Amino acid sequence: MKVVSSVDEIRALSLEYRSKGLKVSLVPTMGWFHSGHVALMMEAGKRADKVIVSLFINPIQFGPDEDFDNYPYDLKRDCKLAEEAGVDVLYAPDQECMYPKGFASTVHVEGLTSGLCGGDRPGHFDGVTTVVSKLFNQTLPHVALFGEKDYQQLAVIRKLVRDLDFPVEIIGHPIVRDEDGLALSSRNNYLKDSEREAALSLSRALASARELADINKNVSVQVVKNTVTKLINRYSECKVNYIEIVDKNSLQNCTDVNSNSMLLLAVTINNRIRLIDNSMVKGG
Ligand code: PAJ
Repeated sequence: MKVVSSVDEIRALSLEYRSKGLKVSLVPTMGWFHSGHVALMMEAGKRADKVIVSLFINPIQFGPDEDFDNYPYDLKRDCKLAEEAGVDVLYAPDQECMYPKGFASTVHVEGLTSGLCGGDRPGHFDGVTTVVSKLFNQTLPHVALFGEKDYQQLAVIRKLVRDLDFPVEIIGHPIVRDEDGLALSSRNNYLKDSEREAALSLSRALASARELADINKNVSVQVVKNTVTKLINRYSECKVNYIEIVDKNSLQNCTDVNSNSMLLLAVTINNRIRLIDNSMVKGG
């Protein structure tokens, strides 16, 4: 596996692959790989001839009181995991390379970014769409893979690509979970044993919502939301940031629970660890 850190190097490599007629994929990440990241890397390997994984902890997508300074980082560890997953190139630019002095541009997607995580984390998606646009321009992939764990992020990236005509096919990957149901996240690294039970309330509440909708075909949005809220609030460690039932394509609030309804939630554990999860309410 090659490890490169400059824009010139990664672009030259990608162009070389392309000139040989090879299909290039990109998996953008912020590192501290877990099986969710690895699943994306393996899927990228099936979809393309060459897999580039970017590792960049993007400061502009973190709010001032968020965990940018503590975000887990271990390049050696991640290199090993990426290599084992069959990655061809790990692209790990530094801050100066990504945002040189005087950097002054922002990519903004209107609408889809306003609620849910966007409402909760102002400016977050501008940070994501700006860095992802840069990564596309730097690595020139044919396809890029994103996880459905960050469901709103995936929807925003799809919109970005459509609106700005990036010649990149976007592929979503289902959520990868631990055996106990917890959605894998680099932030799970912060959870103490005693906090894991509280964190599990997210996936358990989603499962209860699915059960409820299965038993009562006409269950209302409000009843599902109340049930989920109660289950999560049983844990004093949990503070609900949002619990919403939205249309899976538009991300607009649903007025009834139907086959396109998606339950999205964000919960902060002990004021430190912000976790997100989601699920279809019916089927899925
Ligand atoms: P990061 O949180 O490192 O996630 C990188 C990719 O892995 C994202 O597409 C995310 O949705 C996916 N992912 C994370 N946990 C997953 C899980 N349990 N199952 C499936 N996929 C999972 O998301 C980001 O980084 C950043 O916002 C980024 C897109 C790299 C821009 O900085």
